[in-house]
Amino acid sequence: MVVSVILAHPNKESFNHAIARTAIEALRKNGHDVYFHDLYEENFDPILPWEEFAKDAPLPAEIERHCKEISSAEGIVIVHPNWWGQAPGILKGWVDRVIRPGVAYEFIESDKGEGIPNGLLKAKSAIVFNTSNTETEREKKVFKDPLEAIWGDCVFSLCGVADFYRRMFNIIVTSSDGQRKEWLDEVRQTIDKYYPDK
Ligand SMILES: Cc1cc2nc3c(=O)[nH]c(=O)nc-3n(C[C@H](O)[C@H](O)[C@H](O)COP(=O)(O)O)c2cc1C
Repeated sequence: MVVSVILAHPNKESFNHAIARTAIEALRKNGHDVYFHDLYEENFDPILPWEEFAKDAPLPAEIERHCKEISSAEGIVIVHPNWWGQAPGILKGWVDRVIRPGVAYEFIESDKGEGIPNGLLKAKSAIVFNTSNTETEREKKVFKDPLEAIWGDCVFSLCGVADFYRRMFNIIVTSSDGQRKEWLDEVRQTIDKYYPDK
């Protein structure tokens, strides 16, 4: 199986990087091939230019490569911190430019874009690992947990990925080494569950 792993965090010492490393190790241990993108390391340009709007627009080689990878991936893992209830801008821009018409979704012929699109992604499952400094109850009650709807409904369900799992690790800022180790064990177990040894 080929699994795409997308990471958005500027600090290599961060817990987000530890999550991504752990997920990749587990995927490789289970015999899967991994496409990995550390968006900050790559200096990914998150600005969607007008020239890329059209479904058949010519794309820069870098974006073309991202598109090819995400459309051939059989599994997807996204790792990022909660920033204002959203993904870091660099990852939002990756969605804008890569999760694009003709790659991740399409409208039926008579539809100018007002209807319900067909999902095109091949991946049957997607996992999103998030980190935050907010208690789960407060995140849900006060902020309405926007990342759940963004990834689950707005992105993966729309793009045809049937099985979506998201885990928010919190609270990072006060977490002990022992707690972090347990969380990384959980990341390993989640990968083993969704992408077992082939
Ligand atoms: C720009 C910015 C916005 C943030 N917004 C939130 C937020 O809305 N809710 C929250 O719980 N934490 C927020 N945080 C805290 C991060 O989620 C937290 O630092 C991160 O999850 C810790 O993971 P790390 O150790 O891998 O950096 C924010 C941090 C930054 C830098």
